Amino acid sequence: MEVVVYGALSTIWWMSYSNCCLCFYLNIKLFPSKWFSFIFMRCLGPLFNPRLTPLRKRAFDILNEHLADRKKNLPLDILEIGIGGGANLQFYPQNANLTALDMNATFETYFKENQKKYPQITYKKTVTAMAENMEEIADASMDVVVCTFVLCSVQNIQSVLSEVRRVLRPGGKFLFLEHVAFPHDQWSFTIQRFVAPLWHLYFDGCFPDRDIAEEIRKNGFSSVVCENK
Ligand SMILES: C[S@@+](CC[C@H](N)C(=O)[O-])C[C@H]1O[C@@H](n2cnc3c(N)ncnc32)[C@H](O)[C@@H]1O
Repeated sequence: MEVVVYGALSTIWWMSYSNCCLCFYLNIKLFPSKWFSFIFMRCLGPLFNPRLTPLRKRAFDILNEHLADRKKNLPLDILEIGIGGGANLQFYPQNANLTALDMNATFETYFKENQKKYPQITYKKTVTAMAENMEEIADASMDVVVCTFVLCSVQNIQSVLSEVRRVLRPGGKFLFLEHVAFPHDQWSFTIQRFVAPLWHLYFDGCFPDRDIAEEIRKNGFSSVVCENK
């Protein structure tokens, strides 16, 4: 009798366990975008924010220095590409009109949660699209394009940069903040190269070994100011 009960219980336990594993696996396979936004917002964000927040602040200080001549009573049209949950909103300049763009619509819930904290920003629209093709954004319609930790994972960096130049007004600014490849003669670069294929697979298409500053320099912006931290 005891053996039968034990056998039945362990069969139920194993069936439930394998069902759970299967559901988890299918969930990740079927809804990768949903999982990435969840893991990014609830795990990676809180983990890296203490290190990244000062870098974000520095990037926006540089932007503000370059906007010093602007008339603050006139609205500033900002497009943020790959906005995710909106980690940069806290640093936006005064009188900003924001158009938010991301290819992953599942970030929107987190973005809306965050958006409520910054009512001084005027939200124009949210666009779900690839930054490589921003046809919903008119030519020369933006004063600033913001892009942080996105160019490492876009499919075609040169197309994104051409789109950025298309939507910027003459004299417009492109603010970027990215993690980049180490100098090619360092061991750290070899490690980046080595881990790249798996990294790319697990971190939403991110390439740790991209030379992003170089890609930006060769895209035809009138001047490029870069700081390495
Ligand atoms: C690492 S997260 C960074 C989010 C946010 N910019 C930040 O600094 O916290 C990268 C974001 O870029 C978006 N993204 C990646 N490639 C993209 C592309 N080609 N077009 C539009 N969005 C993209 C992802 O969906 C994700 O929201």
